[in-house]
Amino acid sequence: MAPAEHYLLLCVPILCFILSVSRPVFAERKPVFACDVTSNPGLMNFSFCDPSLDLKTRMDDLVSRLTLQEKFGWLVSGARGVSRLGIPNYEWWSEALHGVSYTGPGTKFASPVPGATSFPQVILTAGTFNESLFELIGKVVSTEARAMYNVGLAGLTFWSPNVNIFRDPRWGRGQETPGEDPLLSSKYGAAYVRGLQQTDDDNEERLKVAACCKHYTAYDLDNWKGIQRYTFNALVTQQDLDDTYQPPFKSCVLEGNVASVMCSYNQVNGKPTCGDPDLLAGVIRGEWKLNGYIVSDCDSLNEMFNSQHYTKTPEETAALAMKSGLDLNCGSFLITHAPAAVSRGLLNITDIDRAVANNFATLMRLGFFDGDPSNQLYGNLGAGDVCTPENQELAREVARQGIVLLKNTENSLPLSPTTIKSMAVIGPNANVTHTMLGNYEGTPCKYTTPLQGLMASVPTVYQPGCADVLCATAQVDDAKKIASTADAVVLVMGSDQSIERESLDRVNITLPGEQQNLITEVAKVSKGPVILVIMSGGGMDVQFAKDDPKITSILWVGFPGEAGGAAIADVIYGYYNPCGRLPMTWYPQSYVEQVDMTNMNMRPDPATGYPGRTYRFYTGPTVFKFGDGLSYSQFDHQLVTAPKLISIPLEEGHVCKSSTCWSIDAVERSCKNAAVNVHLRVKNVGNYSGSHTVLLFSSPPQVHNAAQKHLLGFEKLHLTPQAEGQVRFDIDVCKHLSVVDENGARKVALGEHVLHVGSLTHSLNVMI
Ligand SMILES: *[C@@H]1O[C@H](CO)[C@@H](O)[C@H](O)[C@H]1NC(C)=O
Ligand SMILES: *[C@@H]1O[C@H](CO)[C@@H](O)[C@H](O)[C@H]1NC(C)=O
Ligand SMILES: *[C@@H]1O[C@H](CO)[C@@H](O)[C@H](O)[C@H]1NC(C)=O
Ligand SMILES: *[C@@H]1O[C@H](CO)[C@@H](O)[C@H](O)[C@H]1NC(C)=O
Ligand SMILES: *[C@@H]1O[C@H](CO)[C@@H](O)[C@H](O)[C@H]1NC(C)=O
Ligand SMILES: *[C@@H]1O[C@H](CO)[C@@H](O)[C@H](O)[C@H]1NC(C)=O
Repeated sequence: MAPAEHYLLLCVPILCFILSVSRPVFAERKPVFACDVTSNPGLMNFSFCDPSLDLKTRMDDLVSRLTLQEKFGWLVSGARGVSRLGIPNYEWWSEALHGVSYTGPGTKFASPVPGATSFPQVILTAGTFNESLFELIGKVVSTEARAMYNVGLAGLTFWSPNVNIFRDPRWGRGQETPGEDPLLSSKYGAAYVRGLQQTDDDNEERLKVAACCKHYTAYDLDNWKGIQRYTFNALVTQQDLDDTYQPPFKSCVLEGNVASVMCSYNQVNGKPTCGDPDLLAGVIRGEWKLNGYIVSDCDSLNEMFNSQHYTKTPEETAALAMKSGLDLNCGSFLITHAPAAVSRGLLNITDIDRAVANNFATLMRLGFFDGDPSNQLYGNLGAGDVCTPENQELAREVARQGIVLLKNTENSLPLSPTTIKSMAVIGPNANVTHTMLGNYEGTPCKYTTPLQGLMASVPTVYQPGCADVLCATAQVDDAKKIASTADAVVLVMGSDQSIERESLDRVNITLPGEQQNLITEVAKVSKGPVILVIMSGGGMDVQFAKDDPKITSILWVGFPGEAGGAAIADVIYGYYNPCGRLPMTWYPQSYVEQVDMTNMNMRPDPATGYPGRTYRFYTGPTVFKFGDGLSYSQFDHQLVTAPKLISIPLEEGHVCKSSTCWSIDAVERSCKNAAVNVHLRVKNVGNYSGSHTVLLFSSPPQVHNAAQKHLLGFEKLHLTPQAEGQVRFDIDVCKHLSVVDENGARKVALGEHVLHVGSLTHSLNVMI
């Protein structure tokens, strides 16, 4: 998306004020829809308004009725209505990353829906490793979105989720993503999309709301040391592209059946993604068979022309993008320049027709051309379905499931509210509201701050310690004074959008300003447990706190959403046993001093000393690892069944001798029947009930420069003390055990694959 500032600048306070007073506040808000046959019965004559006809017939009818000029109006996000056909203006740009958002002109918060449920920022949700939860959140968000549409406050097309890989800890938008792992990101993307899109009648043709997976592709740098996303050329190997950057998008389309993909601002290997026919028409439409529309980021076509100077004329940019497979332009570039591109013969009417057909088909699947939505599925949803107690309770539940316990010496947590008589709550994030939401937020139903959550059970004293998270100076003495007399100290530190956000990547990954000093000094004088709570999107180098024996516990709470403070208190007091796991590696500061953010390579390069990225490739020191996360209980794993050997029948004519052949193609025929089951028993051997995530990793034989290990699957289960449960992984050898070779082809490496769950390992030999 374009930086929010662009839009905020347009809306200086006086203008907003004038607009809001000049609008009649008593007017009932109406949803935007076409084919209003009740007030205009003549529209019944148009086949495209007839819901009993099939989509293709309606589509063809509609496109055939539009003039070329009218079609241009449907290539841009602020689409121009065609009143003679009963089609109103439509604003395509709404967002719902972790709740309905006010980002984008398609959604507003106003009476009768002043707020919507604000779930934790996605990076924390990813830490739940709970696939059914990902889908459930999507379902609740789409219900609230439909309700807001029905009262005229939102559109039907939401440009969420963001499934880019969180490749570098400095990325300001890492908070929006499900983390660094392609499998987790793929599962998150598909599940959240299903939650948003699937209708209760399970009709694949229909959409509850339309989701959009973005930003395609290899987009994960915003603004680092002056290098801007608008002009950044990501140099990506075919292997990394197919192995790391593309899988979440592929999963969105193939597993999630997403209605849209957004191409990004950046170039990939010298080509702007929105003007690359191989990436758009070739892969998304051709290989993956997207059923929906491809949209540009806002306004990446303008950037392509004016910042990247990729073509000589704007008409060439318009033609290139559309011929590459783009259907919709967020912004106004196409309505301005597509007409001249056509008149100069750079674009054909058929290109325009294809694009508007894809756009209209999506709106048809949403019921936009079926007349008054109050007579349709979801037509009964209204303001009463937003911010319900159940939805708000789910926001709290997601936060508690995602919170990660990273250190807990001598079981200092949970704190018992009956033995802790006084608590000092310190830190610039200790009593924050808006900070808890992260970016792409909406107005929440309400807030519970960490201080409010904690003081509900124990008398507290509070000092912010710093004026803000930048913490240029710390009020160390004031903080020490309250810490030294309290039975327990909770420090709520970290970052906010002034440190990491869209259009702002970090340079350092240490805690900002004087935060470390404040924490250390407070810990020194504390007489009881000291709990350090890190509220942030990206990982922080908190090695000092890990090593400091006075700091007994560390919790990472992401940006935990509207109910974040309640969830933090639930965990600290043991009303909830933490089970979140880190969805990304926490690197030391030395990592960012050594590695250029612009280096897109996932794999290390011994020749230059480049250490590689993420738990799959990086072997250097970490502060915390991908998958880290403690519980108040302990869980034991035992292997029940897992084969030691699997042989894959070779295809006829395939020559592979063991001395020269290290891998075989992961093509369907040879992989037929090549499935294995891994069965594990998990026992809760501690004293607390709780959920536990089993992360199954594999280390493949080291051919094709493969990852040292990768996640094969994850399963979460809930166990009471002493209870046992079973988890089962159905492993498709070609899908799960394969690696991507240097040319982007999937191969199954022959030899020993080592499976790991915690400290448990098992060798699986793959033979031919
Ligand atoms: C709709 O069709 C009917 C019957 O063909 C015709 O009488 C009427 O004028 C049409 N209305 C419009 C608005 O085209
Ligand atoms: C326009 O369509 C014609 C006929 O299909 C084709 O030959 C021509 O190459 C197209 N021109 C452009 C600019 O796509
Ligand atoms: C904490 O924040 C809430 C919400 O902004 C505010 O009402 C309250 O006064 C604050 N508490 C303290 C002690 O500053
Ligand atoms: C990053 O850390 C270095 C070394 O401590 C410091 O000089 C620099 O000012 C920091 N930069 C930012 C943007 O915080
Ligand atoms: C569980 O509680 C019992 C009794 O209080 C105690 O002896 C034991 O050490 C606890 N076990 C663990 C793993 O904490
Ligand atoms: C996953 O989330 C759902 C919805 O909150 C919850 O009911 C379930 O218990 C969670 N699974 C585990 C194993 O905690």
